[in-house]
Amino acid sequence: MLVHALLFLSVIPAVTSEFFSPGAGPRLIWKTGEVQEVRYKTSFVTYTIALWQQNPGQGSAKLGPIIFQTTNGPNAKLTWLVQTYGMDLDSSNVFFLWLFEGDSSAQGNQSAPGQFSSAYFNITTVNQFRVRRHKHKQRL
Ligand SMILES: *[C@@H]1O[C@H](CO)[C@@H](O)[C@H](O)[C@H]1NC(C)=O
Ligand SMILES: *[C@@H]1O[C@H](CO)[C@@H](O)[C@H](O)[C@H]1NC(C)=O
Repeated sequence: MLVHALLFLSVIPAVTSEFFSPGAGPRLIWKTGEVQEVRYKTSFVTYTIALWQQNPGQGSAKLGPIIFQTTNGPNAKLTWLVQTYGMDLDSSNVFFLWLFEGDSSAQGNQSAPGQFSSAYFNITTVNQFRVRRHKHKQRL
C-alpha cells in the first residue's frame, strides 16, 4: 500500500499546495527563541497559517494562534520566531502548521476544501536539554 501511494504521488506532475519546511524528511526540532524559515507553495491569495499542537496518542490536535495571515498571497515563505504561545510542552512537544484558505474564521474548519498541513515538527527549549543532562548526571 505504501509503495503504491509513493508511486502515485511521483507521477502527479505538480502539487499545487505543499509545505517544504517543515516538510518531508527527518523530523525537525526547533528551539524556542530561534528564528526559522517556513517554506511552502500555494496558489491561494487569502489564507491563514496557524500553529497546532498534536495530542499524544490521539488523532487530534489543538489549535494555537494564527502565525501568518494574508489577503495578498500567494507567498512562499515566512520567518517565524519559534514559541509555544503558552501551550504546554510537557503535554506535547509535537506541532504542525495548517494553512486554510480564507480569513481567520476558516482556520480549523476541516470541511473547508482549501487546506493543507505541514509535517510534524518538535519544539524544544534549551532548558529541556539542560534538565535532561542534569537528571542524567544525578543518576550516575
Ligand atoms: C466550513 O467550511 C464549509 C465548506 O466550505 C462551509 O460550508 C461551512 O460553513 C464552514 N463552517 C464554518 C463554521 O465556517
Ligand atoms: C519528537 O518528539 C516525539 C514525542 O515526544 C519523540 O517521540 C521523538 O523522538 C522526537 N523526535 C526527535 C527527532 O527528537
